[in-house]
Amino acid sequence: MPTLPAPLLRSTVANRVRSQVFRNKIVSAQEAVEWIRPGDTVAISGFASAGTPKAVMPVLAERIRRARVEGEDFTVGLLTGASVSAEVERELAEADGIALRMPYQAEATARGRINDGRMDYVDVHLSHVAQQVWQGFHGGVDVAVVEVAGITESGDLIPATSVGNSKTWLDVADRVVLEVNSWIPEALAGTHDIYYGTALPPHRTPILLTAPEDRIGQPYLRIDPARVVAVVETHAPDSAVALTAPDATSEAIAAHVVDFFGHEVRAGRLPADTLLPLQSGIGNVANAVLAGLSKGPYRGLTCFSEVIQDGMLQLIDDGTVRFASATAFALSEAGREKLVDNIDYYREHIVLRSQEISNHPEIVRRLGIIAMNGMLEADIYGNVNSTHVMGTRIMNGIGGSGDFARNGNLSLFLSPSTARDGAISSIVPMVPHVDHTEHDVQVLVTEQGLADLRGLSPRRRSRVVIDRCAHPDYRARLLDYVERAEAVENAGQTPHLLGEAFGFHRRYQETGTMRTP
Ligand code: COA
Repeated sequence: MPTLPAPLLRSTVANRVRSQVFRNKIVSAQEAVEWIRPGDTVAISGFASAGTPKAVMPVLAERIRRARVEGEDFTVGLLTGASVSAEVERELAEADGIALRMPYQAEATARGRINDGRMDYVDVHLSHVAQQVWQGFHGGVDVAVVEVAGITESGDLIPATSVGNSKTWLDVADRVVLEVNSWIPEALAGTHDIYYGTALPPHRTPILLTAPEDRIGQPYLRIDPARVVAVVETHAPDSAVALTAPDATSEAIAAHVVDFFGHEVRAGRLPADTLLPLQSGIGNVANAVLAGLSKGPYRGLTCFSEVIQDGMLQLIDDGTVRFASATAFALSEAGREKLVDNIDYYREHIVLRSQEISNHPEIVRRLGIIAMNGMLEADIYGNVNSTHVMGTRIMNGIGGSGDFARNGNLSLFLSPSTARDGAISSIVPMVPHVDHTEHDVQVLVTEQGLADLRGLSPRRRSRVVIDRCAHPDYRARLLDYVERAEAVENAGQTPHLLGEAFGFHRRYQETGTMRTP
C-alpha cells in the first residue's frame, strides 16, 4: 500500500481542493462550460458509468439545446473510457450534441442516433484508445472534463471511482476542467495505481506487472496546473447499476463454466485452488458466474478485469477472491454503500488502473487471463458477433472483449442459446458481423452446454457447437445446413452455402422469427 499523507485522509467535504493554485480556479459548472466550444473534441472521465463528470455535462447538453433553438449548430466529439452514465449519454444524444462518439456506449438514445446515421461512432478495442489519441486520429483533444475525488496540497489528483482514460485525457487535452466530487470517499485514495511508463513505438519498454496485485505506478494522477482552466465542486453519487437476480439460464451457463474449470484443473492446465486471473464482462451472466465460483472449491482467486461488480465484493468477503485489479467500479446502490462503508478493508484487496494497463495485451498474455465475455451470436465454426444485431445495428461495442479474448490464456464466450423469446438462435450458420474470429474463440457456452473448440478443425467444430450449444429447436436445421454444405464438391476447409449462409437472419427479418413453420 502506498503511504498517504495523514491529513488527506482526515480532510472533509469543504477542503477537497487543498492546493491554493487550484482553489483559485473554482467556478460554477455554467462558467466552466464556456470553455467548450462548437466543434471541440471533448474527452471525459467515466467507465461503466463510474466517474462520469456530473455537473458540467448536463449544462453542456442544455447549452447545446439552447444553441439549436437559436439556430446555431453546436456539436462536439465525445471521447470517454467506456460507457458513461446513462443520463449524460442520453441528454447529449437527445440534444443531437454529439457528432462523433468513441470508444463505447451502451445507451438506447445514443444507440438509436448511431443506427440512424446521425452520430458517427468509432468502436475500438479499449486498450487501443490511448495510443490512437496520442497518434492524433481524432485531431487532438480540445477539452478534458475529469472527475476526481480531491486535489492534494501539492496539486496531485486523487482519482475517482473509475480511472479509464483519465490519465490520457489529462496528458493530451489543451484545456482541462476538473470536477472535484466530495461524494467519493476520500479514503478511496491509495486504491489507484497510475502508471506513467507507456509510450508509442519505438520507445516502448516492458510493463513490469507480473501479478494482478502488483503496483507499478503512483496513487495520483498528474496535471500541469497551467492547463487547468476551471475547477468545479460537486457532491453527487455515481449512477447505480441495476441488478436483477440471476435467472435459470444465467445459472445454467455459470454451472457449465464452473464445471469446465474443474475439468481444466483435472487436466493439469489450471492451478487447483487459484485457477488463473479471471476477467469477466459485465451483466447478469457475469455475476452468475462469479456467484457460481463461490460455491466451488476455490480460495484466493485473483481477477484482472475491467470492472468490479457486486459479485466481486461478495467473493472478496468470503475469501474466494484474494485480489481484484480493474479500471472501475460498477456497483448497485447496495454495492456502493458496502464499498463506502468498508473502504479501508476493500482497499487492501482492490486496485484501479488506467484502462491502457487493465486491458493491456502484453499483461493479459503474461498473466494467462481466463477471459469470459458475452456475445450476441456465434456461428457453427466459432466466429463471434458481440456488437451488431443482424449484422448492421450496433448494440454497445466491442469494449475490452477483444483485448482479453485474443490475448488471454483461455477465452470463453457466453450467451443464452436463443434471444427474443426463442425467435432468434444465438448459434447461426454464419455470423453477419465478426468481432472475434474463430482463431480467438476457444470455448462457447450457452445454457444448453459448453463447446470446447480447442484443437478442433472447422468441420469437427461445427458438430460440437451444434450438439452442445444450439437450442434443440434449431439443431436439426443447423445440422442440415452443414451437411449440405459439406456435400458440395470442393466444399473446402470451412464449408458454407453462400446463398444460404445468412438464411436464419433473412428469415428473421422477413417473418420476425428464425424458426421455420
Ligand atoms: N440477435 C439480436 N439481439 C440479441 C441477440 C441476437 N443474437 N442476442 C441477444 N440479443 C439482445 C437481447 O434480446 C437483449 O435485448 P434487450 O436489451 O432489448 O432485451 C440484448 O441483446 C442483451 O442480451 P442479453 O442476453 O441480456 O445479454 P447481455 O446483457 O449479457 O449482453 C452483449 C450481451 C453481447 C450485448 C454484451 O455482452 C456486450 O455488449 N458485449 C460486448 C462488449 C463486452 O464484451 N464487454 C465486456 C468486455 S470486458
